This record gives sequence, structure tokens and C-alpha cells, in this order.
Amino acid sequence: MVSSTKETGTPRRLLVTGGAGFIGSNFVHYWCDRYPEDRVVVLDALTYAGNRANLAALENRENFQFVSGNICDRALIDRLLATENIDTVAHFAAESHVDRSILTPDAFVQTNVVGTFTLLEAFRQRWESVLKPSNESHALFLHVSTDEVYGSLSATDPAFTETTSYTPNSPYSASKAGSDHLVRAYHHTYGVPTIITNCSNNYGPYQFPEKLIPLMCINMLLGKPLPVYGDGQNVRDWLYVVDHCTALDVVIHQSQPGETYNVGGNNEVKNIDLVQMLCQLMDELAPQLPVHPANKLITFVKDRPGHDRRYAIDATKIKTQLGWTPSVTVEQGLRKTVEWYLDRRDWWKPLLSEEYQNYYRQNYDI
Ligand code: NAD
Ligand code: DAU
Repeated sequence: MVSSTKETGTPRRLLVTGGAGFIGSNFVHYWCDRYPEDRVVVLDALTYAGNRANLAALENRENFQFVSGNICDRALIDRLLATENIDTVAHFAAESHVDRSILTPDAFVQTNVVGTFTLLEAFRQRWESVLKPSNESHALFLHVSTDEVYGSLSATDPAFTETTSYTPNSPYSASKAGSDHLVRAYHHTYGVPTIITNCSNNYGPYQFPEKLIPLMCINMLLGKPLPVYGDGQNVRDWLYVVDHCTALDVVIHQSQPGETYNVGGNNEVKNIDLVQMLCQLMDELAPQLPVHPANKLITFVKDRPGHDRRYAIDATKIKTQLGWTPSVTVEQGLRKTVEWYLDRRDWWKPLLSEEYQNYYRQNYDI
């Protein structure tokens, strides 16, 4: 049997917030496969971005529990930490979409700042009263954050390191920056064992249709325009979501409390080039689609307000200290992802709800 707690040989007991979302659900699948002895409790409010179907294959497992609830609900968190005897929080829950943060920032402050504070306070009390006195030295609060807190790079700037100053530009990244500062302060002030990871753009299975890659795949399948913001020259560093999970695995098992790590894919691509790659893949994998070649659908639209020009991650620290590097190239990852969206219409079709259509019309001004 595989046991996950290196120090004691006993299984971990994880609370995974946001485990019904994109990265959270990929992480839960990864963890349950790799560490079947560990107990995994998912806490998720099932907002528009949360989908219990993402975890359907795990529902009957003995060591898995799904709890529908909000990270701002302190009484619920206290109860879960105690009854499930949690020693590790993996905190993914967030409002995560930049465009929505521009339209409706309130929920971002509430979940990303107040929610993270609520979790931290609950975990601090548990750490001080139970985990520390019983020498649970592997106990950990892992905060999953973003490279967007560092702001925007020019084409020639060096990539973000862990010491790059915070310059968040959107309500989303400002709320994530606020949560990062709280997490850091809880380690510095109270000695709570926290770790922060700041990663680049993830992609892969179970990503909600509003994000660039699924949106382009789905619009191609529906024969709809492919909206590229501004001049399409913005650059993102694409990280295949399973590579992100392996990074979090080494961080949880090997890192020292109080550390921060940047996680990136070594895959910097301009948006317009990425969309062209997706079109070529779709032409190859779905030649029967009515619009062919698919790049005829590319439409340049009004830019996102405050749109960050370039993100790039310098992942030297996690490579040299923990031996982690990404294993999936953008060509490999995009192919797997396009195949997934082609196969899983049953997954994404129900997500194109009235709420989603209203958001789409408002965001794209159509
Ligand atoms: P997502 O939007 O797909 O999922 C977020 C999940 O959190 C959903 O299941 C939602 O129901 C849940 N949630 C939202 N508010 C909640 C609340 N108040 N209480 C409980 N649950 C709540 O997000 P994602 O893309 O999977 O991102 C996960 C984390 O990783 C976020 O913290 C995000 O900031 C960070 N991140 C994401 C990316 C990316 O490219 N997707 C990159 C860097 C960092
Ligand atoms: O960098 C990490 C961040 O990556 C995460 O913290 C966020 O949670 C995640 O949403 C993502 O933010 P981005 O804004 O970079 O991702 P998004 O998929 O929304 O957009 C990627 C790029 O594509 C960005 O430059 C905007 C552009 N874009 C996006 C959409 C949805 C378009 O040109 N057209 C679109 O329709």
C-alpha cells in the first residue's frame, strides 16, 4: 500500500477546497490514484464553475467524501477540520476568471480574500490546539495561487521569480494577491505551516468553457466565431494541469513550511499562435466540421480592460530544490485537450446554460 506521509508512514487527511473545479478536480483524481490510503474530503460551494460530475468516478470510494459548502462558513470548516481530523488543507477554491472579475468583482473579494482568511483562521486554531501539540510535523496549509499577482511583463523582461514584487492589475489578481499576503502573514506571525504556489495558465480536461482553450474548442465545434482579444499578441505560459498536480505533490511532500514556489510550463505562446494551433488540431481531428479550415472563424474583438501583456514563469527554484520539471509540451497537451473536448460533449454541453449565455453576451458585447 502506498502511504503518503513520509515522516510518519501514516496516511494524510486532506481537505481540498474547490475540488469540484478544474484544477481541484484534476488534483483530487491525481491524489486518489496515487495515494489511495489518504483520506480526501472535498469542500466546494458548487458555484457556476463547480461541477460534481467532475468527481463522479470517485463518489463510491471509501476514502473520499464530498461536502457542499462555502469556505466563508467558519462553523462548517471548524466542524470538518475536527470530525475529519484534517492535517492538510489544499486550497483551490476561488473565483478564477479575470473577465468576470472585471464585470462583477464583489464575489472575488468575498471568496478569495474573506474565504481564505476564514480558512486560515480555522486552520490556525486547529494547528495551535491539536496538530502542533501532537507533533503532526507534516501538517500543511497549501495555498494555490497564480502568476498574475506579479503583474505584466514586456516582451524582453525576465520571467517572474519568487522574489518579483507583487503588482496585480485586475480585481481577480488583486484578490489573489490579498490572499497570498494573508497566508504569508499567518506563517510569519503565528508559525502556521503554510506554502504558496504561484502557477501559470493551466489547461486540460474539465476546464470550464469560459477560459481561452475550452472556449476556442467549443466554439469551433459549434461553428461560432473565435474571439481573440486586442491584437492577439499577449503571451501566456501554458501548463498542462497534470504537470501542475505533480508539482503540488512534490511541494506537499518535500517543501519546508513558509516557502513559496513558482510553477510554470516552459511553454510561452502568443494567444493568436495558440488559437492557430488549436484550429490546426481541430482540422485534423474533426475534418467533418462545417467550417473548414477552422481558422476562418478567428475574429479579433475589443480588448480586455487592463489586459496583462505577458506572463512567464521562472521555475528554477522548484526544479533545483524539489527536482520538479513539467513533462508535457504544449503540442502534446493541446492535442490531448482537443481530443478530450471532442469526446466529452456530454460534459460541456450542459454547462452552456442560460447564465453562461448571459455572461457571454455581456462580456463579448454581442
Ligand atoms: P475554477 O473556477 O475552475 O474552480 C473553482 C472552484 O472553487 C469551483 O469548483 C467553485 O465551485 C469553487 N468555489 C468558488 N467559490 C467558493 C467558495 N466560496 N467556497 C467553496 N468553494 C468555492 O478554478 P481553477 O481554474 O480550477 O483554479 C483553482 C485555483 O487555482 C484558484 O485558486 C485559482 O486562482 C488558481 N489558479 C488557476 C489557474 C488556471 O489557469 N486555471 C492558474 C493559476 C492559479
Ligand atoms: O496566469 C494564471 C491565470 O490564468 C489564472 O490565475 C486564472 O485563474 C486563469 O483564468 C488564467 O487567466 P487568463 O486571463 O490568462 O486566462 P484566460 O483563459 O481567460 O485568457 C488567456 C488569454 O487569452 C488572455 O490573454 C486573454 C485571452 N483571451 C481569453 C478569452 C477568454 C482571448 O483572447 N479571448 C477570449 O475569449
